[in-house]
Formats: sequence, structure tokens, C-alpha cells
Amino acid sequence: MKQELETLHGKALQELGDVQDTKRLGDWRVTYLGKKSELTTLSKQMGQLDAESRPAYGQMLNELRQALEGAFATTKATIEEAEQNARLASETIDITLPGRAIEVGAVHPISEVVREIEDVFLGMGFSIVDGPEVETDHYNFEMLNLPKDHPARDMQDTFYITEELLLRTHTSPMQVRTMERMHPHVPIKVLVPGRVYRRDEDDATHSHAFTQIEGLVVDKGIRMSDLKGVLEAFAKALFGEHQRVRLRPSYFPFTEPSAEVDLVCVHCQGSGCRVCKETGWIEILGSGMVHPRVLDMAGYDSEIYSGFAFGMGPERIAMLKYGITDIRQLYQNDLRLLRQFAGV
Ligand code: DAH
Repeated sequence: MKQELETLHGKALQELGDVQDTKRLGDWRVTYLGKKSELTTLSKQMGQLDAESRPAYGQMLNELRQALEGAFATTKATIEEAEQNARLASETIDITLPGRAIEVGAVHPISEVVREIEDVFLGMGFSIVDGPEVETDHYNFEMLNLPKDHPARDMQDTFYITEELLLRTHTSPMQVRTMERMHPHVPIKVLVPGRVYRRDEDDATHSHAFTQIEGLVVDKGIRMSDLKGVLEAFAKALFGEHQRVRLRPSYFPFTEPSAEVDLVCVHCQGSGCRVCKETGWIEILGSGMVHPRVLDMAGYDSEIYSGFAFGMGPERIAMLKYGITDIRQLYQNDLRLLRQFAGV
């Protein structure tokens, strides 16, 4: 019987020596120490022995159980340590790896110019508002004194969605929307930046989608000299104290009189160069006194109120300011160009 226990002991230890992981260790425990193990069975059979041999055999069984439990505990500790070491090794972070640089974006040159212009006009007491890019024929044309058969509609080739709905061709409809919203209050002093759309072929100076900034002032006693003063202050703020503006007679259906506004050429300071086509001046915006019919249609009696309006293209101003010669460069989002504006 003693022999039998020793064999069992030897077999158990030998198998335990092969156990490498927690799962197999558990299996080993069930086999050699569990309820259905040989050892347990032998213990249960002890009752069949005669009273004399029982104590000695009992002691042997106890010693064997203790020996196996001790071996189990030692192996368990070894395996757990090995498993933990393996886990730690696999989770090691190599802190000598160089970090990934965080890419910092830059404000797009058009946004940059729009913000700069907004700041100038905020400083003169204007509010900034925006309006819908999908606009009605009513606001985009009719209310701006451009009835359906008006030849000036051809100046702005339009993306129509339905007969009445279109992509706005300019930010001027916001003049009317603003007057209707403000009515009957004065003064109105708003600046409206936004996207506009035209059925143009894209080339170096044209894009089918571009940006405009509209300005509108309405009050009693607004005169053309107010328009010129505001635009001159704007030109100086954006291009330097030496700047001057020149008003040239022009035509827009929604202003009377109308004027195109020129800056002293930012390239040659007026002496004449390729950029200004040797004139010394560069056109930057359209403007005029709000047409009496436009005022009246929007609810402001043109016998009492007057106003001025202007509309400019930030792309053109960005091109002048940053020496960009092709408008398409502003839309291609070539990082080599955009990166130059980081930190501007
Ligand atoms: N809406 C005109 C255009 O897109 C620009 C313009 C001209 C706006 C004169 C105005 C203005 O407010 O008074 O060509």
C-alpha cells in the first residue's frame, strides 16, 4: 500500500513538472487533489482497513496530501510569476520612440481676410449678420430693382434650382432681408459676409463659388460722403495709412448713383505696373447710394431715409494682400500654400 502511494506521489510530481500554465495547473489539481482524485478515493477506502493499520495509513495519506498541496502551491506561485512577467513584457511601452507631431492648422487666407474686414467694420459700429445661400428670385433680384426682364440680370449668370429658387449670385439680397427685419428702426449698419454662386467658367480670376462681403447703412441724412469716408477708413485699416480711395461712376440697378471704388495700387503705390494695368489704381468694390425704389420696396420711405451700400470680394483682397495671382489657388487647398498662413 505504501508502494502504491509512492507511485502516486511520483506520478503526480512528474506531471506537475510539465505544467506550464494556470489552466493545466487547475486540471492537475482536479486530478490529484480533487473530490474524484485517487487520493480522495484511497482516503474513503480507509474504513475497510483493520483498526491496527489504519492510523499509519491515515498518516501516510495525510503526508501525501500535504506534499502534493505544497508542490501545487509552489508551482502555482512560479507559473503566476512567469505569466505576470510575460504580461508586463508584452505591455512594455518604449518611451524612447519619438512622439507623433501634432499638426496645427492655419486659418485659410480667405477667412483671415474676412475676419480682418469684420474687425474693421465692427470698430465702426457695424453688426455682422449672415443669410441664406439658397435664395429666392424675389430677394436676389426683384427687390433689388432687377425685374425678370431686366438686362442687368445677364451680368450675373445664375444657378436656378426652380423658377423661384436659386443660389444667390451676390450678398445684396441681405440688404432687403435686413431692412425688412429692422423696419421701422434706424440706424441700420450691417456687414454681411457669405458665399455666392455664379455660372462662370473657372479661370485665374473667376470662380463659380466665391465670397462676398456686403455692407449696408440706412438712416436719415446718409450721404455719399459718408460712403466715401467709411470706405477710406476701411482701406487705410487694411492696406495702411497712406491708402486713398477713388470713386468712379458706375451702374448697379440697386444703387443710384453707383460707384466703383479703386485703391491706390498696392503693388506699385500708384506709379503704374502690370497688376494695375499701368493705371496706378485697383478696383476693389462696387457701391452706391441705395436706390430709392429699393428703400421704398423694403418699407423705408425714400423721402425720409437714405442709405449707402457696398459689395466686395475678399478673394480679390486676399490676392492683392498676399500676392496670389490665380484665384484657383485659394480653393485648391494645397498645403504648401496654406502652411504659409500658419501664424499670420
Ligand atoms: N452685388 C454686386 C455684385 O455682386 C456688388 C455690389 C455693388 C454690391 C454695389 C452693393 C453695391 O451693395 O452697392 O456685383
